[in-house]
Amino acid sequence: MVEPLVKVADVVKVYPDGTVALRGVSLDIFPNEILGLLGENGAGKTTLMKIVSGLLQPTEGKLYVYGKPVKFSMPAQALKMGIGMVHQNIPLVHNFTGLENILLGYKGIKRDEALERLRDLMSKTGLKVRLDVPVEDLSLGERQRIEILKMLFRGVKILIMDEPTTNLTPVETKDLFRLLKQLAYEGKAVVFISHKIKEVMEITDRVVVLRKGKVVGRLKTKETTPKELASLMVGREVVFSYPPKKEVPNQKDLLVVKDLWVTDDLGRQAVRGISFTLKSGEILGVAGVEGNGQKELVEALTGLRVIDKGKVILMGEEVTGADPGTLSFRGLVHIPEDRKNVGLVLTMSVLENVFLGLHRYPEFLKPGKLINWNKVTEHARKLIKRFEIVVRSLKSPAKSLSGGNQQKLIVARELSKKPSVIIAANPTRGLDVASTQFVRNLLINLRNQGIGILLISSDLDEVLDLSDRVAVMYEGKFTSLKPVKDYTLQEIGLLMGGVNA
Ligand SMILES: Nc1ncnc2c1ncn2[C@@H]1O[C@H](COP(=O)(O)OP(=O)(O)OP(=O)(O)O)[C@@H](O)[C@H]1O
Ligand SMILES: [Mg+2]
Repeated sequence: MVEPLVKVADVVKVYPDGTVALRGVSLDIFPNEILGLLGENGAGKTTLMKIVSGLLQPTEGKLYVYGKPVKFSMPAQALKMGIGMVHQNIPLVHNFTGLENILLGYKGIKRDEALERLRDLMSKTGLKVRLDVPVEDLSLGERQRIEILKMLFRGVKILIMDEPTTNLTPVETKDLFRLLKQLAYEGKAVVFISHKIKEVMEITDRVVVLRKGKVVGRLKTKETTPKELASLMVGREVVFSYPPKKEVPNQKDLLVVKDLWVTDDLGRQAVRGISFTLKSGEILGVAGVEGNGQKELVEALTGLRVIDKGKVILMGEEVTGADPGTLSFRGLVHIPEDRKNVGLVLTMSVLENVFLGLHRYPEFLKPGKLINWNKVTEHARKLIKRFEIVVRSLKSPAKSLSGGNQQKLIVARELSKKPSVIIAANPTRGLDVASTQFVRNLLINLRNQGIGILLISSDLDEVLDLSDRVAVMYEGKFTSLKPVKDYTLQEIGLLMGGVNA
């Protein structure tokens, strides 16, 4: 029998605030294998792997590496034993080069020797990166490759990847998968955390499913189906089909954008002359690798960023440069990707968060512009019921909600403003299967009711599944804009990578 490289035995994790994240989890990590770790938002995946990689300590239970019991008090100790974790938000030092980042904290090697070994490693693994450029100038994909290279350079035998494909192009994802397979073939172990069941089916050998801090399934990938995995995760059956798209008659031009130019925080031209028209009853998807100006485009259209040049016309009236309040009052709402900083005030209660922005609506006010809290409470209860938002009480702080429920709260609040136009930026990022499905179905239903939706997403499947027309954004421009059915997958992948097909 093959010995596991890592053995997790009955691990319990209670966070200082009393949250029980893991309730007795056992897990073996074997060589020559890619292990998928699946589970809803808040199931405990990241917590478990942070324990394995020495970033957190278990409250109870044991950890064995190569058969020996270990107690890590920091990641460096785990790294020494060959365990490395690549986090979703890669913690590199931004103004250091790739080489400097890789050598950070690594003693006893000369620069030239390190470079030679790294070049060797790069050619063996196909991990191409520029080592002499500050990492802030590199794409997210490149940064991830540096982090992986760093782990391999340190001789990692167990590589843990936490949602690694979120910001990769399809081509980069393919390359990553090839590499992970190669590593497993060489005798290493890979742990692959993802919400994307399709990827888990494609790349893993075995899957462990967590629900609410417990293991609810251990399966061989070959012997399971996406449906089975989804229902194990959620604890009930998940329906994967979308509502049919209806023909919407008399489509009107809701949002007309003409030659839009916007600068980013560093004064660079992030949006460079974008024009498009969003019609009623359509979902216009914007595909692209993160960092090609999508964020600045969204901010400019929602009144959060200055427009340098160009025109924005909302239902026949020019609104260029209008503030977010005016825009939402005129029917344009924003589902932001940064739910923690833009969408919610985490320290405020659920009730207060529902009220955000509604202070402009007379039905929630009493004479003298006082807040009618009874009305707001009634409204909040309705939204919570309709959107099945799990909250302990209206008084709980928003930060106590899981990621998925925070997102539902924002969506519910924004839609209750009865918009004509929705700007949705990565509306399902980091959401688990059931919440993702819920939000996507909702967007299609709203489209069918005649609302116009601009969907900006780095998740290509999401864009392709929901959109009527698709624009590809690259370096601040729409390099292509046409009906979704006129694209091939390969063409869109190339366009996302800056290659004109
Ligand atoms: N630092 C912390 N303090 C308190 N509770 C925390 C902390 N970090 C995570 N939690 C809680 O622990 C539970 C497990 O969180 P964890 O991040 O491990 O989930 P996950 O499976 O990785 O979810 P996701 O898919 O959303 O990344 C959740 O209820 C979460 O709210
Ligand atoms: Mg996580």
